[in-house]
Amino acid sequence: MSSNNHAAAPTTIVIFGASGDLTSRKLIPALYSLHRKQRLPEGTKVVGVSRTPYTHDAWRNELAESTAKAAGEAFAPKSWADFAHGIFYAPGDITDAESFTHLHQSLAEIEGETARGRVYYLSTAPRFYEPAIRALGQHGMADESHGTRRIVIEKPFGTNQETAHRLNDIVHHVFHERQVFRIDHYLGKETVQNLFVFRFANTIFEPIWNRNYIDHVQITVAEEVDVGHRGDYYDTAGVLRDMFQNHLLQLLTIAAMEPPVRFEADAVRNEKVKVLRAIQPMAAEQVAASSVRGRYRGYLEAKHVSPTSHTATFASLRLDVDNWRWQGVPFYLRSGKAMSCRTTQIVVQFREPPHMMFGDGRTSHCDANRLVIQVQPAEGIQLQLQTKVPDSAMQLRLTDLDFRFRGRFTGELPEAYERLLLDAIVGDASLFARADEVELAWGIIDPILAAWEATGEPPLAEYEPGVWGPHESTDWMQLQGRCWFDNCPVL
Ligand code: BG6
Repeated sequence: MSSNNHAAAPTTIVIFGASGDLTSRKLIPALYSLHRKQRLPEGTKVVGVSRTPYTHDAWRNELAESTAKAAGEAFAPKSWADFAHGIFYAPGDITDAESFTHLHQSLAEIEGETARGRVYYLSTAPRFYEPAIRALGQHGMADESHGTRRIVIEKPFGTNQETAHRLNDIVHHVFHERQVFRIDHYLGKETVQNLFVFRFANTIFEPIWNRNYIDHVQITVAEEVDVGHRGDYYDTAGVLRDMFQNHLLQLLTIAAMEPPVRFEADAVRNEKVKVLRAIQPMAAEQVAASSVRGRYRGYLEAKHVSPTSHTATFASLRLDVDNWRWQGVPFYLRSGKAMSCRTTQIVVQFREPPHMMFGDGRTSHCDANRLVIQVQPAEGIQLQLQTKVPDSAMQLRLTDLDFRFRGRFTGELPEAYERLLLDAIVGDASLFARADEVELAWGIIDPILAAWEATGEPPLAEYEPGVWGPHESTDWMQLQGRCWFDNCPVL
Protein backbone atom coordinates (compact mmCIF):
# COMPACT_ATOMS: atom_id res chain seq x y z
CA MET A 1 0.00 0.00 0.00
CA SER A 2 2.98 2.25 -0.31
CA SER A 3 3.19 5.07 -2.76
CA ASN A 4 6.64 5.09 -4.20
CA ASN A 5 7.39 8.61 -5.35
CA HIS A 6 10.96 7.79 -6.28
CA ALA A 7 9.72 5.64 -9.12
CA ALA A 8 7.75 8.49 -10.66
CA ALA A 9 9.21 10.57 -13.46
CA PRO A 10 9.04 14.37 -13.21
CA THR A 11 5.38 15.21 -13.49
CA THR A 12 3.27 18.16 -14.52
CA ILE A 13 -0.07 18.48 -12.77
CA VAL A 14 -2.48 20.37 -14.98
CA ILE A 15 -5.42 21.62 -12.95
CA PHE A 16 -8.53 22.57 -14.90
CA GLY A 17 -10.71 24.80 -12.74
CA ALA A 18 -7.68 26.52 -11.28
CA SER A 19 -9.56 29.52 -9.92
CA GLY A 20 -12.05 27.32 -8.07
CA ASP A 21 -12.49 26.68 -4.42
CA LEU A 22 -11.23 23.08 -4.44
CA THR A 23 -7.94 24.12 -6.02
CA SER A 24 -7.11 26.78 -3.46
CA ARG A 25 -8.57 25.05 -0.40
CA LYS A 26 -7.47 21.45 -0.99
CA LEU A 27 -5.33 20.68 -4.03
CA ILE A 28 -2.58 23.28 -3.73
CA PRO A 29 -2.28 22.92 0.08
CA ALA A 30 -2.04 19.14 -0.39
CA LEU A 31 0.65 19.50 -3.05
CA TYR A 32 2.52 22.01 -0.92
CA SER A 33 2.42 19.63 2.03
CA LEU A 34 3.79 16.83 -0.18
CA HIS A 35 6.52 19.20 -1.32
CA ARG A 36 7.46 19.97 2.28
CA LYS A 37 7.65 16.27 3.04
CA GLN A 38 9.77 15.79 -0.09
CA ARG A 39 7.35 13.26 -1.47
CA LEU A 40 6.80 14.83 -4.87
CA PRO A 41 8.97 13.60 -7.72
CA GLU A 42 11.90 15.87 -8.41
CA GLY A 43 10.90 18.68 -10.78
CA THR A 44 7.15 18.52 -10.25
CA LYS A 45 5.31 21.39 -11.93
CA VAL A 46 1.78 22.63 -11.47
CA VAL A 47 -0.08 24.39 -14.26
CA GLY A 48 -3.42 26.01 -13.52
CA VAL A 49 -5.99 26.46 -16.26
CA SER A 50 -9.15 28.54 -16.05
CA ARG A 51 -10.76 31.53 -17.71
CA THR A 52 -9.59 34.12 -15.19
CA PRO A 53 -6.77 36.12 -16.84
CA TYR A 54 -4.03 35.70 -14.21
CA THR A 55 -0.33 36.02 -14.82
CA HIS A 56 1.90 33.31 -13.30
CA ASP A 57 2.79 35.67 -10.46
CA ALA A 58 -0.73 36.83 -9.78
CA TRP A 59 -1.86 33.22 -9.37
CA ARG A 60 1.14 32.34 -7.23
CA ASN A 61 0.42 35.28 -4.94
CA GLU A 62 -3.19 34.34 -4.54
CA LEU A 63 -2.25 30.74 -3.79
CA ALA A 64 0.36 31.84 -1.27
CA GLU A 65 -2.39 33.49 0.72
CA SER A 66 -4.89 30.63 0.55
CA THR A 67 -2.21 28.02 1.25
CA ALA A 68 -0.87 29.94 4.25
CA LYS A 69 -4.42 29.93 5.60
CA ALA A 70 -4.91 26.22 4.96
CA ALA A 71 -1.50 25.12 6.20
CA GLY A 72 -1.43 27.26 9.35
CA GLU A 73 1.80 26.86 11.26
CA ALA A 74 3.17 24.43 8.71
CA PHE A 75 3.46 27.23 6.16
CA ALA A 76 7.06 28.31 5.69
CA PRO A 77 7.76 31.17 3.27
CA LYS A 78 11.04 29.67 2.12
CA SER A 79 9.68 26.26 1.18
CA TRP A 80 6.64 27.93 -0.37
CA ALA A 81 8.90 30.07 -2.56
CA ASP A 82 10.68 26.92 -3.61
CA PHE A 83 7.40 25.18 -4.42
CA ALA A 84 5.85 28.26 -6.09
CA HIS A 85 8.77 28.31 -8.49
CA GLY A 86 7.17 25.31 -10.18
CA ILE A 87 3.67 26.85 -10.39
CA PHE A 88 2.45 28.29 -13.68
CA TYR A 89 -0.78 29.61 -15.08
CA ALA A 90 -2.29 29.15 -18.53
CA PRO A 91 -5.54 31.05 -19.13
CA GLY A 92 -8.02 29.11 -21.23
CA ASP A 93 -11.62 28.22 -21.84
CA ILE A 94 -12.39 24.51 -21.79
CA THR A 95 -15.18 24.88 -24.34
CA ASP A 96 -12.93 26.63 -26.85
CA ALA A 97 -10.76 24.47 -29.14
CA GLU A 98 -8.25 27.28 -29.66
CA SER A 99 -7.58 27.44 -25.94
CA PHE A 100 -6.32 23.88 -26.09
CA THR A 101 -3.97 24.72 -28.93
CA HIS A 102 -2.56 27.46 -26.68
CA LEU A 103 -2.44 25.15 -23.69
CA HIS A 104 -0.61 22.56 -25.73
CA GLN A 105 2.01 25.19 -26.63
CA SER A 106 2.23 26.61 -23.12
CA LEU A 107 2.80 23.14 -21.68
CA ALA A 108 5.55 22.50 -24.21
CA GLU A 109 7.27 25.74 -23.15
CA ILE A 110 6.86 25.09 -19.43
CA GLU A 111 7.95 21.47 -19.64
CA GLY A 112 10.87 21.84 -22.06
CA GLU A 113 12.42 18.92 -23.88
CA THR A 114 12.61 16.21 -21.23
CA ALA A 115 9.95 13.52 -21.19
CA ARG A 116 7.58 14.07 -18.29
CA GLY A 117 4.52 12.47 -16.88
CA ARG A 118 1.32 14.47 -16.80
CA VAL A 119 -1.70 14.36 -14.55
CA TYR A 120 -4.74 16.26 -15.79
CA TYR A 121 -6.98 17.12 -12.87
CA LEU A 122 -10.61 17.99 -13.67
CA SER A 123 -11.60 20.22 -10.81
CA THR A 124 -14.25 22.05 -12.82
CA ALA A 125 -18.04 22.03 -12.74
CA PRO A 126 -19.11 18.55 -13.99
CA ARG A 127 -20.58 19.92 -17.21
CA PHE A 128 -17.03 20.68 -18.37
CA TYR A 129 -15.74 17.11 -17.94
CA GLU A 130 -16.95 16.01 -21.34
CA PRO A 131 -15.60 18.94 -23.40
CA ALA A 132 -12.29 18.83 -21.54
CA ILE A 133 -11.81 15.10 -22.15
CA ARG A 134 -12.78 15.40 -25.81
CA ALA A 135 -10.43 18.33 -26.33
CA LEU A 136 -7.55 16.49 -24.65
CA GLY A 137 -8.21 13.63 -27.07
CA GLN A 138 -8.44 15.87 -30.12
CA HIS A 139 -5.14 17.54 -29.31
CA GLY A 140 -3.32 14.26 -28.79
CA MET A 141 -2.76 15.14 -25.15
CA ALA A 142 -3.62 11.65 -23.84
CA ASP A 143 -0.92 10.11 -25.98
CA GLU A 144 1.74 8.44 -23.86
CA SER A 145 4.68 8.36 -26.23
CA HIS A 146 6.45 11.15 -24.28
CA GLY A 147 5.52 10.11 -20.76
CA THR A 148 2.53 8.87 -18.82
CA ARG A 149 -0.76 10.74 -19.18
CA ARG A 150 -3.31 10.33 -16.42
CA ILE A 151 -6.61 11.98 -15.69
CA VAL A 152 -8.17 12.61 -12.30
CA ILE A 153 -11.92 13.18 -12.35
CA GLU A 154 -13.69 14.76 -9.40
CA LYS A 155 -17.13 13.78 -8.21
CA PRO A 156 -19.95 13.72 -9.12
CA PHE A 157 -19.25 11.15 -11.80
CA GLY A 158 -22.59 11.35 -13.62
CA THR A 159 -25.95 11.97 -12.01
CA ASN A 160 -27.33 8.46 -12.55
CA GLN A 161 -26.25 5.17 -14.09
CA GLU A 162 -27.00 6.29 -17.62
CA THR A 163 -25.01 9.53 -17.46
CA ALA A 164 -22.15 7.78 -15.64
CA HIS A 165 -22.07 5.15 -18.38
CA ARG A 166 -22.05 7.84 -21.04
CA LEU A 167 -19.24 9.69 -19.31
CA ASN A 168 -17.27 6.45 -19.02
CA ASP A 169 -17.70 5.96 -22.76
CA ILE A 170 -16.37 9.43 -23.48
CA VAL A 171 -13.45 8.90 -21.11
CA HIS A 172 -12.60 5.52 -22.65
CA HIS A 173 -12.66 7.02 -26.11
CA VAL A 174 -9.61 9.06 -25.11
CA PHE A 175 -7.98 7.31 -22.11
CA HIS A 176 -7.40 3.68 -21.17
CA GLU A 177 -8.98 2.75 -17.86
CA ARG A 178 -5.50 2.41 -16.32
CA GLN A 179 -4.98 6.13 -16.99
CA VAL A 180 -8.20 7.14 -15.21
CA PHE A 181 -8.47 8.12 -11.54
CA ARG A 182 -12.02 8.81 -10.31
CA ILE A 183 -11.78 10.56 -6.98
CA ASP A 184 -13.72 9.72 -3.88
CA HIS A 185 -11.93 11.70 -1.21
CA TYR A 186 -13.22 9.34 1.51
CA LEU A 187 -10.80 6.73 0.22
CA GLY A 188 -7.93 9.10 0.98
CA LYS A 189 -8.87 9.35 4.65
CA GLU A 190 -6.41 7.58 6.94
CA THR A 191 -9.03 5.61 8.88
CA VAL A 192 -10.61 4.34 5.69
CA GLN A 193 -7.23 3.03 4.57
CA ASN A 194 -6.71 1.63 8.02
CA LEU A 195 -9.90 -0.37 7.61
CA PHE A 196 -8.07 -2.49 5.04
CA VAL A 197 -5.25 -3.01 7.50
CA PHE A 198 -7.56 -3.61 10.45
CA ARG A 199 -9.44 -6.30 8.57
CA PHE A 200 -6.70 -7.93 6.58
CA ALA A 201 -3.51 -7.55 8.62
CA ASN A 202 -4.98 -8.93 11.86
CA THR A 203 -5.92 -12.52 12.45
CA ILE A 204 -8.52 -12.04 15.12
CA PHE A 205 -11.25 -10.06 13.38
CA GLU A 206 -11.74 -11.82 10.07
CA PRO A 207 -13.05 -15.09 11.56
CA ILE A 208 -15.91 -13.25 13.25
CA TRP A 209 -16.54 -10.82 10.41
CA ASN A 210 -19.63 -12.56 9.07
CA ARG A 211 -23.26 -13.53 9.59
CA ASN A 212 -22.43 -15.98 12.36
CA TYR A 213 -21.29 -13.23 14.72
CA ILE A 214 -22.54 -9.95 13.32
CA ASP A 215 -26.14 -8.84 13.69
CA HIS A 216 -25.92 -5.78 11.45
CA VAL A 217 -23.62 -2.96 10.37
CA GLN A 218 -24.38 0.76 10.61
CA ILE A 219 -22.61 3.37 8.56
CA THR A 220 -23.32 6.95 9.57
CA VAL A 221 -21.93 10.06 7.95
CA ALA A 222 -23.43 12.90 9.94
CA GLU A 223 -22.67 16.50 9.13
CA GLU A 224 -23.33 19.43 11.39
CA VAL A 225 -23.20 21.93 8.55
CA ASP A 226 -26.23 22.65 6.38
CA VAL A 227 -26.12 23.23 2.64
CA GLY A 228 -24.75 26.74 3.13
CA HIS A 229 -24.08 28.49 -0.16
CA ARG A 230 -24.22 25.26 -2.20
CA GLY A 231 -28.02 25.29 -2.59
CA ASP A 232 -27.72 25.51 -6.34
CA TYR A 233 -25.88 22.21 -6.70
CA TYR A 234 -27.37 20.47 -3.68
CA ASP A 235 -30.98 21.01 -4.65
CA THR A 236 -30.42 19.05 -7.86
CA ALA A 237 -28.38 16.37 -6.10
CA GLY A 238 -29.80 15.64 -2.64
CA VAL A 239 -28.26 13.40 -0.05
CA LEU A 240 -28.35 10.12 -2.02
CA ARG A 241 -26.38 11.49 -4.94
CA ASP A 242 -24.18 13.72 -2.81
CA MET A 243 -23.15 11.20 -0.14
CA PHE A 244 -24.53 7.68 -0.65
CA GLN A 245 -23.64 6.83 -4.23
CA ASN A 246 -20.01 7.57 -3.50
CA HIS A 247 -18.81 7.91 0.10
CA LEU A 248 -21.24 5.65 1.95
CA LEU A 249 -21.18 2.88 -0.63
CA GLN A 250 -17.39 3.02 -0.68
CA LEU A 251 -17.31 2.56 3.08
CA LEU A 252 -19.77 -0.30 2.76
CA THR A 253 -17.73 -2.10 0.12
CA ILE A 254 -14.54 -1.92 2.19
CA ALA A 255 -16.35 -3.14 5.31
CA ALA A 256 -18.00 -5.99 3.42
CA MET A 257 -15.47 -7.11 0.80
CA GLU A 258 -13.58 -10.40 0.72
CA PRO A 259 -9.82 -10.22 1.26
CA PRO A 260 -8.11 -9.31 -2.02
CA VAL A 261 -5.09 -11.43 -2.93
CA ARG A 262 -2.86 -8.38 -3.06
CA PHE A 263 -3.24 -4.72 -2.23
CA GLU A 264 -3.22 -3.55 -5.80
CA ALA A 265 -5.74 -1.65 -7.83
CA ASP A 266 -7.49 -4.39 -9.74
CA ALA A 267 -7.44 -7.01 -7.00
CA VAL A 268 -8.99 -4.53 -4.55
CA ARG A 269 -11.51 -3.17 -6.98
CA ASN A 270 -12.60 -6.61 -8.17
CA GLU A 271 -13.59 -7.46 -4.60
CA LYS A 272 -15.40 -4.16 -4.13
CA VAL A 273 -17.31 -4.70 -7.34
CA LYS A 274 -18.40 -8.15 -6.13
CA VAL A 275 -19.99 -6.53 -3.07
CA LEU A 276 -21.86 -4.02 -5.21
CA ARG A 277 -23.08 -6.82 -7.44
CA ALA A 278 -24.35 -8.70 -4.40
CA ILE A 279 -26.63 -5.80 -3.46
CA GLN A 280 -29.85 -6.28 -5.35
CA PRO A 281 -31.28 -3.00 -6.64
CA MET A 282 -34.46 -2.33 -4.67
CA ALA A 283 -37.80 -3.03 -6.28
CA ALA A 284 -40.07 0.07 -6.28
CA GLU A 285 -42.50 -1.50 -3.80
CA GLN A 286 -39.65 -2.24 -1.38
CA VAL A 287 -38.37 1.32 -1.17
CA ALA A 288 -40.94 2.74 1.27
CA ALA A 289 -40.08 0.07 3.84
CA SER A 290 -36.33 0.11 3.27
CA SER A 291 -35.65 3.83 3.40
CA VAL A 292 -36.38 6.99 5.35
CA ARG A 293 -35.92 10.45 3.91
CA GLY A 294 -35.87 13.79 5.62
CA ARG A 295 -35.24 17.47 5.24
CA TYR A 296 -34.06 19.85 7.92
CA ARG A 297 -36.32 22.74 8.84
CA GLY A 298 -35.09 25.85 7.08
CA TYR A 299 -33.72 24.11 3.98
CA LEU A 300 -36.27 25.76 1.70
CA GLU A 301 -35.05 29.18 2.77
CA ALA A 302 -31.46 28.43 1.76
CA LYS A 303 -30.09 30.46 -1.13
CA HIS A 304 -30.79 29.00 -4.62
CA VAL A 305 -33.09 26.27 -3.27
CA SER A 306 -36.42 26.02 -5.05
CA PRO A 307 -39.33 26.88 -2.73
CA THR A 308 -41.16 23.80 -4.07
CA SER A 309 -38.12 21.51 -3.68
CA HIS A 310 -38.53 17.88 -2.64
CA THR A 311 -34.84 17.29 -2.15
CA ALA A 312 -33.89 15.12 0.82
CA THR A 313 -31.08 16.37 3.05
CA PHE A 314 -31.15 13.19 5.14
CA ALA A 315 -31.69 9.52 4.39
CA SER A 316 -31.46 6.13 6.05
CA LEU A 317 -31.31 3.01 3.91
CA ARG A 318 -31.27 -0.68 4.55
CA LEU A 319 -29.20 -2.61 2.05
CA ASP A 320 -28.72 -6.36 1.97
CA VAL A 321 -25.56 -7.93 0.64
CA ASP A 322 -26.69 -11.25 -0.77
CA ASN A 323 -23.70 -13.50 -0.46
CA TRP A 324 -22.46 -16.27 1.87
CA ARG A 325 -20.75 -13.97 4.29
CA TRP A 326 -23.55 -11.45 4.76
CA GLN A 327 -26.84 -13.24 4.15
CA GLY A 328 -29.34 -11.89 6.69
CA VAL A 329 -27.03 -9.12 7.97
CA PRO A 330 -28.52 -5.74 7.06
CA PHE A 331 -26.28 -2.78 6.33
CA TYR A 332 -27.92 0.40 7.58
CA LEU A 333 -26.63 3.55 5.96
CA ARG A 334 -27.55 7.07 6.97
CA SER A 335 -26.31 10.54 6.27
CA GLY A 336 -27.62 14.03 6.59
CA LYS A 337 -26.88 17.72 6.78
CA ALA A 338 -27.66 19.85 9.84
CA MET A 339 -27.36 16.92 12.22
CA SER A 340 -26.18 16.76 15.84
CA CYS A 341 -22.48 16.78 15.13
CA ARG A 342 -19.87 15.91 12.54
CA THR A 343 -19.05 12.26 12.77
CA THR A 344 -18.43 9.38 10.39
CA GLN A 345 -18.67 5.96 11.97
CA ILE A 346 -18.90 2.37 10.93
CA VAL A 347 -20.55 0.45 13.73
CA VAL A 348 -20.34 -3.32 13.66
CA GLN A 349 -23.03 -4.63 15.96
CA PHE A 350 -22.31 -8.18 17.09
CA ARG A 351 -24.96 -10.72 18.04
CA GLU A 352 -26.06 -11.27 21.60
CA PRO A 353 -24.42 -14.15 23.44
CA PRO A 354 -26.45 -17.31 22.81
CA HIS A 355 -27.21 -17.72 26.51
CA MET A 356 -27.05 -15.18 29.29
CA MET A 357 -26.38 -16.61 32.71
CA PHE A 358 -26.15 -13.32 34.57
CA GLY A 359 -28.90 -11.18 36.07
CA ASP A 360 -32.36 -11.79 34.71
CA GLY A 361 -30.92 -13.49 31.67
CA ARG A 362 -32.40 -10.92 29.32
CA THR A 363 -30.17 -9.43 26.65
CA SER A 364 -30.62 -6.85 23.97
CA HIS A 365 -28.91 -6.20 20.67
CA CYS A 366 -28.14 -2.74 21.89
CA ASP A 367 -25.99 -4.10 24.72
CA ALA A 368 -24.10 -6.71 22.75
CA ASN A 369 -20.48 -6.21 21.64
CA ARG A 370 -19.96 -3.37 19.29
CA LEU A 371 -17.01 -2.24 17.28
CA VAL A 372 -17.02 1.45 16.40
CA ILE A 373 -14.66 2.48 13.64
CA GLN A 374 -14.53 6.21 13.81
CA VAL A 375 -13.47 7.65 10.50
CA GLN A 376 -13.66 11.31 11.58
CA PRO A 377 -13.26 13.75 13.19
CA ALA A 378 -10.98 11.93 15.69
CA GLU A 379 -9.74 8.79 13.98
CA GLY A 380 -9.73 5.56 15.89
CA ILE A 381 -11.42 2.36 16.94
CA GLN A 382 -13.50 1.51 19.97
CA LEU A 383 -14.44 -1.98 21.04
CA GLN A 384 -17.35 -2.14 23.44
CA LEU A 385 -17.56 -5.12 25.73
CA GLN A 386 -19.41 -6.24 28.84
CA THR A 387 -17.57 -6.11 32.14
CA LYS A 388 -18.50 -6.71 35.73
CA VAL A 389 -19.11 -3.57 37.78
CA PRO A 390 -16.53 -3.76 40.58
CA ASP A 391 -17.86 -4.54 44.00
CA SER A 392 -21.31 -5.47 42.65
CA ALA A 393 -22.78 -8.94 43.00
CA MET A 394 -22.70 -9.63 39.28
CA GLN A 395 -23.83 -6.45 37.64
CA LEU A 396 -22.71 -5.93 34.05
CA ARG A 397 -21.84 -2.78 32.19
CA LEU A 398 -20.84 -2.10 28.60
CA THR A 399 -17.38 -0.53 28.70
CA ASP A 400 -14.83 0.18 26.04
CA LEU A 401 -11.33 -0.32 24.74
CA ASP A 402 -10.18 2.69 22.78
CA PHE A 403 -7.53 3.12 20.16
CA ARG A 404 -6.80 6.65 18.98
CA PHE A 405 -4.47 7.32 16.09
CA ARG A 406 -3.35 10.58 17.58
CA GLY A 407 -2.41 9.00 20.87
CA ARG A 408 -0.23 6.36 19.22
CA PHE A 409 1.36 8.11 16.29
CA THR A 410 3.02 11.47 16.22
CA GLY A 411 2.55 14.07 13.53
CA GLU A 412 -0.57 15.42 11.91
CA LEU A 413 -2.70 13.03 9.90
CA PRO A 414 -2.48 14.06 6.26
CA GLU A 415 -5.41 15.47 4.33
CA ALA A 416 -7.13 12.92 2.09
CA TYR A 417 -6.06 14.78 -1.04
CA GLU A 418 -2.37 14.35 -0.26
CA ARG A 419 -2.54 10.61 -0.50
CA LEU A 420 -4.79 10.65 -3.53
CA LEU A 421 -2.73 13.16 -5.49
CA LEU A 422 0.43 11.25 -4.81
CA ASP A 423 -1.17 7.97 -5.84
CA ALA A 424 -2.36 9.53 -9.10
CA ILE A 425 1.16 10.84 -9.75
CA VAL A 426 2.70 7.40 -9.24
CA GLY A 427 -0.16 5.60 -10.99
CA ASP A 428 -1.60 3.59 -8.11
CA ALA A 429 -5.37 3.40 -8.58
CA SER A 430 -6.17 1.22 -5.55
CA LEU A 431 -7.92 4.10 -3.80
CA PHE A 432 -9.86 5.29 -6.85
CA ALA A 433 -13.17 4.09 -8.25
CA ARG A 434 -13.16 2.02 -11.41
CA ALA A 435 -15.67 2.52 -14.23
CA ASP A 436 -17.80 -0.52 -13.36
CA GLU A 437 -17.76 0.36 -9.65
CA VAL A 438 -19.22 3.80 -10.26
CA GLU A 439 -21.92 2.48 -12.57
CA LEU A 440 -22.91 -0.32 -10.20
CA ALA A 441 -23.16 2.16 -7.33
CA TRP A 442 -25.54 4.28 -9.38
CA GLY A 443 -27.50 1.13 -10.14
CA ILE A 444 -28.21 0.83 -6.40
CA ILE A 445 -29.17 4.49 -5.92
CA ASP A 446 -31.23 5.13 -9.08
CA PRO A 447 -34.21 2.85 -8.23
CA ILE A 448 -34.53 4.43 -4.79
CA LEU A 449 -34.60 7.94 -6.20
CA ALA A 450 -37.05 6.85 -8.90
CA ALA A 451 -39.41 5.24 -6.37
CA TRP A 452 -39.25 8.27 -4.05
CA GLU A 453 -40.27 10.45 -6.93
CA ALA A 454 -42.91 8.16 -8.41
CA THR A 455 -44.68 7.10 -5.21
CA GLY A 456 -43.93 9.95 -2.80
CA GLU A 457 -43.17 7.20 -0.24
CA PRO A 458 -41.76 7.29 2.31
CA PRO A 459 -42.89 10.90 2.89
CA LEU A 460 -40.22 13.55 3.24
CA ALA A 461 -40.02 13.94 7.03
CA GLU A 462 -38.92 17.22 8.54
CA TYR A 463 -36.32 17.42 11.32
CA GLU A 464 -35.00 20.21 13.45
CA PRO A 465 -31.39 21.12 12.72
CA GLY A 466 -29.08 19.64 15.32
CA VAL A 467 -30.66 16.19 15.81
CA TRP A 468 -30.03 12.69 14.43
CA GLY A 469 -32.44 13.20 11.52
CA PRO A 470 -36.22 12.81 11.68
CA HIS A 471 -37.71 10.67 14.46
CA GLU A 472 -39.07 8.46 11.66
CA SER A 473 -35.54 7.15 11.26
CA THR A 474 -35.35 6.13 14.92
CA ASP A 475 -38.83 4.56 14.78
CA TRP A 476 -37.96 2.69 11.60
CA MET A 477 -34.88 1.21 13.20
CA GLN A 478 -36.80 0.23 16.32
CA LEU A 479 -39.42 -1.46 14.21
CA GLN A 480 -36.66 -3.74 12.99
CA GLY A 481 -35.67 -4.52 16.57
CA ARG A 482 -32.49 -2.46 16.39
CA CYS A 483 -31.25 0.91 17.57
CA TRP A 484 -29.07 3.52 15.95
CA PHE A 485 -25.80 4.26 17.61
CA ASP A 486 -26.57 7.94 18.17
CA ASN A 487 -23.31 9.13 19.61
CA CYS A 488 -21.20 12.09 18.71
CA PRO A 489 -17.54 11.16 18.30
CA VAL A 490 -16.75 8.48 20.84
CA LEU A 491 -13.02 9.14 20.73
C1 BG6 B 1 -18.67 16.05 -0.39
C2 BG6 B 1 -20.11 16.47 -0.44
O1 BG6 B 1 -18.41 15.05 -1.32
O2 BG6 B 1 -18.37 15.54 0.90
C3 BG6 B 1 -20.41 17.51 0.63
O3 BG6 B 1 -20.39 17.04 -1.71
C4 BG6 B 1 -19.97 16.99 1.98
O4 BG6 B 1 -21.80 17.83 0.66
C5 BG6 B 1 -18.54 16.49 1.93
O5 BG6 B 1 -20.10 18.06 2.90
C6 BG6 B 1 -18.16 15.81 3.23
O6 BG6 B 1 -16.79 15.56 3.22
P1 BG6 B 1 -15.97 15.45 4.58
O7 BG6 B 1 -14.62 15.04 4.16
O8 BG6 B 1 -16.05 16.80 5.22
O9 BG6 B 1 -16.69 14.43 5.40
